[in-house]
Amino acid sequence: MDFYTILKNLHSYNRYALLLVITFVLVRSLMGWLGKGRYEKLDSATGGAMLGLAHLQLLLGLILYFISPYAMKGSLDPLNLNRAWVVYFKMEHITAMIVAVALIQVGRTASKRATDDVSKHKKVAIYTLIAVVLIVGTLAHKGLLLGNVPV
Ligand code: HEM
Repeated sequence: MDFYTILKNLHSYNRYALLLVITFVLVRSLMGWLGKGRYEKLDSATGGAMLGLAHLQLLLGLILYFISPYAMKGSLDPLNLNRAWVVYFKMEHITAMIVAVALIQVGRTASKRATDDVSKHKKVAIYTLIAVVLIVGTLAHKGLLLGNVPV
């Protein structure tokens, strides 16, 4: 297996790990915020895991961006059969995902700075919710939420 295929697979599988942890964090933070629950060690640990997976995804994506035939190496020539994918990865995917990871980071930092448990949950809930909408929206309309780029 070549370097590109390994990175592509890692980026592809890490999406499931990230989506799973993000969903868990989102549900717990919403419940904690609206139900005025305590911010527990588990919240901090899963929040940290979410941030780590998001940064890993960003790093893998950034490298892929320069070696994938669907990004920098892809042609925007109207005759290219993969042009729609090249447009998507060259512009839409990278922009939306960088913003999403930044939102996850801001939510984490803001929740660490917050002094009481409910506002810790609230910061995580709000920023993570927007990030999830962005990630799911950007992947779903291309069939990438659970699927792959056709080869
Ligand atoms: C939350 C962050 C991200 C998620 C959930 C995500 C998800 C995905 C998914 C599901 C695919 C399709 C994989 C497949 O076909 O099996 C993909 C491909 C790709 N992603 Fe991301 N991505 C993220 C961030 C990024 C970022 C920040 C970049 C660029 C800087 C990036 C660049 C790419 C590229 C270039 C491909 C095409 C790979 C190829 O098939 O050659 N991704 N991404």
